[in-house]
Amino acid sequence: MIERKYDQKHQKHWENWQRSWDRQQEWYMPDREERFRVMLDLVEAVGGSEPRVLDLACGTASISERLLARLPGAVSVGVDLDPALLTIAGGLFAAEPRLTLVTADLRDQDWAAQLPPGPYDAVVTATALHWLATDDLIRLYGDLAGLLRPGGVFLNADHMPEPATPVLNAADRAFQRRRQERERSEGVLDWADWWTAAAADPLLADHVAARSALYREHTDGDLHPADWHTARLVEAGFREAGVAWRSVSDSLVAAVR
Ligand SMILES: C[S@@+](CC[C@H](N)C(=O)[O-])C[C@H]1O[C@@H](n2cnc3c(N)ncnc32)[C@H](O)[C@@H]1O
Repeated sequence: MIERKYDQKHQKHWENWQRSWDRQQEWYMPDREERFRVMLDLVEAVGGSEPRVLDLACGTASISERLLARLPGAVSVGVDLDPALLTIAGGLFAAEPRLTLVTADLRDQDWAAQLPPGPYDAVVTATALHWLATDDLIRLYGDLAGLLRPGGVFLNADHMPEPATPVLNAADRAFQRRRQERERSEGVLDWADWWTAAAADPLLADHVAARSALYREHTDGDLHPADWHTARLVEAGFREAGVAWRSVSDSLVAAVR
């Protein structure tokens, strides 16, 4: 059993890791904050000012952090598999009764049994479900339909490249690469460097080692365009599904239960 140090003494430490995670993620998605803003607009539009939210594959709980800052009456359940990212979230929110963190693998058929009971007003997720294989994702969409109340909303912001625009996609990729190179020369960490830095932190090292063992067999999941997701969500039992925001490479898909 790895000890998690959630004490207040380390609050600043966990805050620094959270900000550094956000910066690393923004290196990949410069529109990340805008996506979150549109996502939370829809959580509030559907769920009101005191929504009960499930933050799926929450990582360090960046979405929950923004939700709780924006809506003081909200409560959130963050679920993830990664012991290191959950340690950062647990440290940062040690004194936050509105956030519950749950360890579960979304690929397990009974993952939802670990959650505080539903129904939820909203399920939110970002940059995560492309880690899943197509079969697991379709099963998960069915599970989410069962966790949301009728009228509740599912919001999935993720990489959803559009096959109809290969020229635009290639131009955008080249443009983003130039931006990333510039930012790297200014010291921004990419995924691999961020994890190397995390492994060097005595408060995180054991958790990073545990995650490496967990993800040793990790392979990337499948990428699908936005209209594939909206079709699967309707098949899974959602009343309607559409695109609430998009860039060339990413979309925010919204589905109403
Ligand atoms: C790129 S991070 C995004 C985290 C967070 N949503 C954010 O936007 O900062 C992807 C997250 O998906 C989680 N994840 C991937 N596969 C998972 C699985 N099978 N079960 C639970 N979480 C998973 C990872 O642990 C990681 O925290």
